[in-house]
Amino acid sequence: MAIVCKSMAEIEKMRRSGHIVRQVLDHVRDLIVPGASTMDLERAAEQKMRDLGAKPAFKGYYDYPCVLCTSVNEEIVHGIPSEKRLLQTGDIVSVDCGVVLDGYYGDAAITVPVGEEVTPELQELLSVTEASLYRGIDQARLGNAIGDVSAAVQEYVESHGFSVVREFVGHGIGTHLHEEPQVPNFGTPGQGARLLEGMVIAIEPMVNSGKPEARVLSDKWTAVTVDGSYSAHFEHCVAVSRDGPMILTQ
Ligand code: CO
Repeated sequence: MAIVCKSMAEIEKMRRSGHIVRQVLDHVRDLIVPGASTMDLERAAEQKMRDLGAKPAFKGYYDYPCVLCTSVNEEIVHGIPSEKRLLQTGDIVSVDCGVVLDGYYGDAAITVPVGEEVTPELQELLSVTEASLYRGIDQARLGNAIGDVSAAVQEYVESHGFSVVREFVGHGIGTHLHEEPQVPNFGTPGQGARLLEGMVIAIEPMVNSGKPEARVLSDKWTAVTVDGSYSAHFEHCVAVSRDGPMILTQ
């Protein structure tokens, strides 16, 4: 399947999906307190999506069982919400959310500290990961290549002493959750697909405080750091336009 560029009307639809994703994430963020279970977040998210008239994108996609991915501490991505996983002061939790509205997908992620006592080192992991996302977004310009986005993320992350995960990457998005091209968080400027008007990509740096290696647990979904270090994840959907990068998940 080739890269599909979107019309202005399609991008407007994706902005609506993206706006719902943001409203769900804002709602979930308020529920992230010590003692909450990740299943509490899942239930609240599912209700909010439906209230806003959208369908969950992840549930049933490749047989994933939930509407959110909730990845705590050393979990990188694809953590499955559970009644048994209670958030504790000092944890960090990544919440990844996707919806589909009127045939168009939206996908975004945030990582949130639990309680008020997250260490300065973890705070820095979160702020560097979020800032690396914006470094990548700033490269999502006509005439640039995917490698410019990838390299900007990697350079920023590594210059702050953290590492980027290689096994999971960002992606094109539109009438499917995952479209071409892949958007790695590592690479070489100028390499890869050229960015064309109407391309929409999900940029999603996954950043480890230690070594970059990931492995998947026996539940077949939860990806964790091999060295047990912490991991953060932020994601936006971005349209490439003549006026520069347009963030659709605001
Ligand atoms: Co994504």
